[in-house]
Amino acid sequence: MADLFTPLVLGGITCPNRIQVSPMCQYSAVDGIAQDWHLIHLGGLMMSGAGLVVAEATGVEAAGRISHGCLVLETDAQEQALADLVARLRPLSDAGIGIQLGHAGRRASARSIRDRGKGESLPPEEGAWQTYAPSALPYNDQWATPAEMTEDDIIRITRAFAQATRRAVRAGFDLVECHAAHGYLLHQFLSPRTNRRNDAWGGTLENRMRFPLAVVQAMRDALPADRALGVRVNSTDWHPQGATLDDAVPFVRALKDLGVDYVTLSAGNLVPDAVIPKATPGHQVGFAERIRQETGMTVVAVGMISDPVQADAVVREGRADMVAIGRAMLDNPRWGWHAAARLGHDVPYPPQYLRARPNNWTDFQRIHPGAQPVVSTQQADRPSGSTWDRPETDKPAAQPS
Ligand SMILES: Cc1cc2nc3c(=O)[nH]c(=O)nc-3n(C[C@H](O)[C@H](O)[C@H](O)COP(=O)(O)O)c2cc1C
Repeated sequence: MADLFTPLVLGGITCPNRIQVSPMCQYSAVDGIAQDWHLIHLGGLMMSGAGLVVAEATGVEAAGRISHGCLVLETDAQEQALADLVARLRPLSDAGIGIQLGHAGRRASARSIRDRGKGESLPPEEGAWQTYAPSALPYNDQWATPAEMTEDDIIRITRAFAQATRRAVRAGFDLVECHAAHGYLLHQFLSPRTNRRNDAWGGTLENRMRFPLAVVQAMRDALPADRALGVRVNSTDWHPQGATLDDAVPFVRALKDLGVDYVTLSAGNLVPDAVIPKATPGHQVGFAERIRQETGMTVVAVGMISDPVQADAVVREGRADMVAIGRAMLDNPRWGWHAAARLGHDVPYPPQYLRARPNNWTDFQRIHPGAQPVVSTQQADRPSGSTWDRPETDKPAAQPS
């Protein structure tokens, strides 16, 4: 069995290990354009030891961004800013660089945490915009009612996904991930709770899958073979009348037939009255495991995977091919480096930071008590006469009591 630090082939790319930085909205764009924050945020995560860094949910059209501060990939200026960003990120490590493309549907036009909001619908005086959904059903009675999508809207948004994919390719991203989870537009089509259409785009599961599959097909057609295509899928709506893992199985089979390279199994966020069990470590790994077994698809597990031994076990036991890590990466953007030390693996450090590498610094063992001895080809020079770095003569550091 593979372990966390073995390479993983996803379509046309090879990730140096099976740790992914999960896509995380930063609400820091201006007019959909990436800013210095994105460089600092993603730059730090490129130097985390992860094998793949996926940038946040990015709207394929302005109406599809979640909040005023979300990235959009619809204009030349937005594309150019992302191309500059990728060019600056690329030299920082050998991690693959991906971007998640999505459309928020009825959950667009929201106030973000950066606007001191909790994700609620924007009032008109804060620049609310028209939202779109399969059916004219608001998220709850405090939310704006979306327009039921017409055939023209369906065509426009499908093309927007394809066009944004082409822009992401030109910007230099290795991988594009389609967001079909978390209660956003594609998930709204998939679930019987939010899709009440009577036409070819609603009703049976086959009809509810039609629009998401058309979008993924358009993205696949726009993506060359030397890149990778993933989809974030909802495992369950956590609602008695919602979609379940039984619905996700045929959806993932259809995605596999379209040439999708991996899926990430997440859950929830569709409706406010979902009944969600208390989250425990690795609470969504079982979803990934069943999808992997029943479809043969390459799967990414996500959700409260924050301990290196736990993450390694998920991969080693064949429950998932990769783990995506969110909050633990924000908490500790060197998570992958520390996981490597804990599991006894060698991951490359940038030369500027080599002196803090476990094999070059005796204090590492003291502040990371579970660390294994790591044999590395990367040695730091030790300037003669320095007092701060003398591992040959250092006595073993005292263990914390
Ligand atoms: C600040 C923040 C922003 C997020 N934004 C996104 C996003 O853009 N796209 C997405 O699919 N999930 C998003 N998520 C969910 C994470 O990718 C991940 O699935 C979730 O946090 C569970 O993983 P964790 O327990 O490792 O944090 C976000 C989570 C956080 C904490």
